[in-house]
Amino acid sequence: MDKAKRPVVIAGNWKMNKTPAEAKTLIEELKPMVSGKKGCDIVLCVPYVDISVAVESTKGTNIKIGAENVHFAESGAYTGEISSKMLKECGVEYVIIGHSERRQYFAETDETVNLRTKAALAEGLKVILCVGEVKEQRLSGITDEIVSIQTKLDLAGVNADDMKNVIIAYEPVWAIGTGLTATPEQADETCGVIRSTLAKLYGENIAESTVIQYGGSMNAKNAAELLAKKNVDGGLIGGASLKAPDFTVIVEAAQ
Ligand code: PGA
Repeated sequence: MDKAKRPVVIAGNWKMNKTPAEAKTLIEELKPMVSGKKGCDIVLCVPYVDISVAVESTKGTNIKIGAENVHFAESGAYTGEISSKMLKECGVEYVIIGHSERRQYFAETDETVNLRTKAALAEGLKVILCVGEVKEQRLSGITDEIVSIQTKLDLAGVNADDMKNVIIAYEPVWAIGTGLTATPEQADETCGVIRSTLAKLYGENIAESTVIQYGGSMNAKNAAELLAKKNVDGGLIGGASLKAPDFTVIVEAAQ
């Protein structure tokens, strides 16, 4: 399948930014800027407390709402956590799982990423699953092995049918929030390694139809070049998603 047949997905990851009132202001600014842009799916992954205002403000628009994490249990004694069912009922369609900040600061492992992924898929959420190497791993030349192992572990037990609801975000950890971006060639090559891993797990058809995003300091200036690469089907955007004009330029680059 050629790239043109895969959807392009541009997703913002707001991280721990924007109060509900600020979220409303940003979305109201963004809505007219991206309205009518049909060349890509647009998703905003927002803090839990912003979900209801974000869902409400984007009703009837081309913007979908995602969460930034989810717990793997259906319910129970998990103080401070949120379940897939809760997200679904709030109108959430997407959820980021396994972001490197969760892995780094909140003891997230491939095992818990896998549990979260399966729980979210079972509830009918679309998962944006993040994988990526740290700087030392890239410098040691083991990036391909790292992303391939993460992909395999994080998707263990996810069946072929559910893969239509999985997006993989390749996010080199050294590029996140640092202003350092992978070169378009590096991004393409590693997204390609992830696609080959998917081919081994699920066969060529699923590998070719899975959306693989790049994330890590993608911005208004470098988006077009990254998105032009054959294995890069979109972006997961942190910092630049907090500014409506910048995010709009990235959405336009995906048209
Ligand atoms: P950044 O974040 O665009 O600010 O580097 C990307 C991400 O963490 O998803």
